[in-house]
Amino acid sequence: MEPKYKRIVIKLSGEALAGKNGFGIDPPTVQRICEAVKEVFEKDVEIAIVVGGGNFWRGRFGEGMVKATADYMGMLSTVINALALQDALEQMDVPARVQTAIEMKEIAEPYIRRKAVRHLEKKRVVIFAAGTGNPFFTTDTTASLRAAEIDAEIILLAKSVDAVYDDDPEVNPNAKKYDELTYIDVINQGLKVMDSTAITLCMDNDIPILVFGLDEPGNILRAVEGERIGTIIEEVK
Ligand code: GTP
Repeated sequence: MEPKYKRIVIKLSGEALAGKNGFGIDPPTVQRICEAVKEVFEKDVEIAIVVGGGNFWRGRFGEGMVKATADYMGMLSTVINALALQDALEQMDVPARVQTAIEMKEIAEPYIRRKAVRHLEKKRVVIFAAGTGNPFFTTDTTASLRAAEIDAEIILLAKSVDAVYDDDPEVNPNAKKYDELTYIDVINQGLKVMDSTAITLCMDNDIPILVFGLDEPGNILRAVEGERIGTIIEEVK
């Protein structure tokens, strides 16, 4: 099947790399995710990945700390994850480049928008690390910002749940699943999909977000082929 999108941003949470441990990096899990990315890569789709850092550090672990410091610690943890993804992808012959929003040039190249686009055109997966480089912004907001900057057609927001629900489906078995939502629905209903900064950035730049479960094998490819999985968040035309 022909892919529906030519250029995508995949947002992975840090926890997605931790596997069952819930902490750190589980190499077989990283391998499985990268195999799924490779399937899409082989369809000639240009792929940028934004990865979180919650498997090492979350802002809330830093209760009592200066928030900006806790956030910088989180940004550093995303760099570890980005390097793990780069390594796993390259070991399966998928060229990948990490770009960091905070310069650490001995470790990876700095984020340069035009260079990132060039990498994509040359069929390299680009992994954006260190968030936006600013405290008080999440990695979800990074996904929105980078998607706007590189002109991606969609954000694939990979989650541990398979879609957006009106309540936590693990706690409430009657939670209602949404197939589609508008950005305003997400904000007005206080749905915990992305933070409001991330959602409004997508709304203002008309970038659709597909929320789907990463645990189901082949889901990234299904999403890219336009199969109706998960929840799509976009403006109703
Ligand atoms: P092209 O110029 O399109 O050929 O891209 P390229 O990434 O293959 O070539 P480049 O010479 O820019 O980079 C070669 C390798 O060095 C790649 O793995 C880059 O990710 C890496 N690299 C480039 N710039 C930096 C940097 O500032 N710091 C670090 N640590 N690595 C870098």
